[in-house]
Amino acid sequence: MSESPEVPVEPLEVLRTRRSSKWRTYPPDVLPLTVAEMDFTLAPCVADALHAAVDLSDTGYGTSAAGLQDALAQFTQRRWGWHIDPAAVTAFTDVATGVVELLRVLCSPEDAVVFNTPVYPPFFDWVHDVAARVRAVPFARDEAGWHLDLETMEAAFAEGPAVYLLCNPHNPVGRAHRREELTEIVRLAQRYGVRVISDEIHAPIVYEEAQFTPLLTIDGAAEVAVSVLSASKAWNLAALQCAVVVTAGQAMADEVRRIPRDIRWRTGHFGVIAAIAAFEQGEEWLDRLLVTLDRRRTLLKTLLAQHLPHIDWTPPEATYLAWLDCRSLGTKDEPRDLFLERGRLALEAGRRFGPEGAGYVRLNFATSAEIIEEAIDRMIRSLRGGGITD
Ligand SMILES: Cc1ncc(COP(=O)(O)O)c(C=O)c1O
Repeated sequence: MSESPEVPVEPLEVLRTRRSSKWRTYPPDVLPLTVAEMDFTLAPCVADALHAAVDLSDTGYGTSAAGLQDALAQFTQRRWGWHIDPAAVTAFTDVATGVVELLRVLCSPEDAVVFNTPVYPPFFDWVHDVAARVRAVPFARDEAGWHLDLETMEAAFAEGPAVYLLCNPHNPVGRAHRREELTEIVRLAQRYGVRVISDEIHAPIVYEEAQFTPLLTIDGAAEVAVSVLSASKAWNLAALQCAVVVTAGQAMADEVRRIPRDIRWRTGHFGVIAAIAAFEQGEEWLDRLLVTLDRRRTLLKTLLAQHLPHIDWTPPEATYLAWLDCRSLGTKDEPRDLFLERGRLALEAGRRFGPEGAGYVRLNFATSAEIIEEAIDRMIRSLRGGGITD
């Protein structure tokens, strides 16, 4: 059997003509490996569906009723053996909107919301948006990598927060939480009366050594939890604005129904069209994407070990994000500022992900091998004369 080919990436000069935020935030001499969007060429099935919609001038108001629920339910069944009732799927503009609107119905002002830090920075903003309080529980790390600290989680749940906002798999540490951990989370949620919102946007991007466990497949989760998913990370569709909230029981479905109906009308029509194409026809492309990303992850590991061995990290088992501990580089500047100013390389500043992120950077490796090599060169150059480079 021939080896699975990679998904393609246009050369850097073509990528630089994109108008997305990754490519327009920094001047043209900066190489950006920042915001979680990918450089790969769009999956052909998605591009075809969008071209067909444009050819048809199908640019009116959208409806998620035209197949999104079924397409998602069939995808989750095939991919993860997760049975979803299509009627329990509600479309939203994006994951952020889904989570904020859920928080609005599940929290009262001043309620606490638990999440695990370091975390995708908007988690902080979403909680503040609904006038709730952040109760951060730091991740634990040992030789095996990052994982939930269940003892500290229990202590936080015992304080009576309204919601636990789970990131499954987790951005930025790349952990695909284990079934046993999620089982314990559900047990704690039941015991302490905490509702769980599981942000599963990165679910399709899990490498072979790990496995995505949908929270709603855990016994008892249906009564206390809701999941938020989207095709937007795995097929790079953030521009098109479509995500879904999924429930598996009456009580949580009733909570979702309390969200004003009007908000659902804001879902992007092209987002729905693209998501249906991705879920129905995009699985082979997704598998090729995972092979490609796995190779990039290996390349990054090799290059870091060779040239920047003082940077400490656990290669992620999910997501295309590398969470790099630069604290022992011996520089006095925040590493993100150093890499940007001296190397003209843009990475995300770790401190945006919570206080534990100081001294870290997040690097997006969803790009070509050449760009990753160039990024490592720029990192080496940034450190020359100002730190450790062996
Ligand atoms: C964990 C997580 N949730 C949500 C989002 C944003 O999703 P959306 O653009 O659908 O709001 C991201 C984007 O990177 C993310 O990493």
